[in-house]
Amino acid sequence: MTEVLLRAHDVSREFRTPAGVVHAVVGVSLEVRAGELVVVRGRSGAGKTTLLGMLAGADVPTSGAVERPTEPGETGYVMQTFGLVDVLSAAENVELPLRVVRTPSAERDERVRDALATVGLARHGHQRPAELSGGQRQRVAIARALVTRPRLLVADEPTGQLDSVTAGAVMDVLRELTRSGGVAAIVATHDPILVERADRVLDLHDGHLAEV
Ligand SMILES: Nc1ncnc2c1ncn2[C@@H]1O[C@H](COP(=O)(O)OP(=O)(O)O)[C@@H](O)[C@H]1O
Ligand SMILES: [Mg+2]
Repeated sequence: MTEVLLRAHDVSREFRTPAGVVHAVVGVSLEVRAGELVVVRGRSGAGKTTLLGMLAGADVPTSGAVERPTEPGETGYVMQTFGLVDVLSAAENVELPLRVVRTPSAERDERVRDALATVGLARHGHQRPAELSGGQRQRVAIARALVTRPRLLVADEPTGQLDSVTAGAVMDVLRELTRSGGVAAIVATHDPILVERADRVLDLHDGHLAEV
């Protein structure tokens, strides 16, 4: 059996709001193995972003636990809202995680070029996010998540801003990374282009997960 790179044990997340407690994610357990591309489907408000944030380590469960690779750069996270730094160019945004893991400068330049080329943005590295289209910004966010060559990729609606041809190309990149590169990927989407390339599809309803 291949290695399990992501495990969630009975993970729940509550939000306390003036209107009461929101049970955004309820008792979710799952495993994703090296080489697998798993899709999480669910309508708006189902809890996809809350769940993926916890899987990526950006948020902490109210109860339960997540196990993922722990070294810096081993998990790549594509946020639904992209999370780009406005005052940096696309290339500088993609470079940020390499600075965190202290990749030497010459290698950083090469990796950034490769990552931008992978998402079809080779000629846009100098542009700031405000000078890019929504779909281009989304692809910068994807390049930034891939640039450290993570073992685990967590991607929240990564094709939401892309036309179907570009979405298919991005999805082929993810498919290739998982199948040949042994990466584990978990992707939230309602995009049928992604669903048809998944190894497994999980449905999230009101915070509860069911395997399809
Ligand atoms: N920071 C927050 N504070 C309060 N409620 C939240 C917060 N984040 C998400 N929620 C609520 O949790 C539920 C799930 O949201 P979300 O995870 O964004 O769903 P999805 O990504 O599937 O659209 C929704 O009811 C949403 O309003
Ligand atoms: Mg969401």
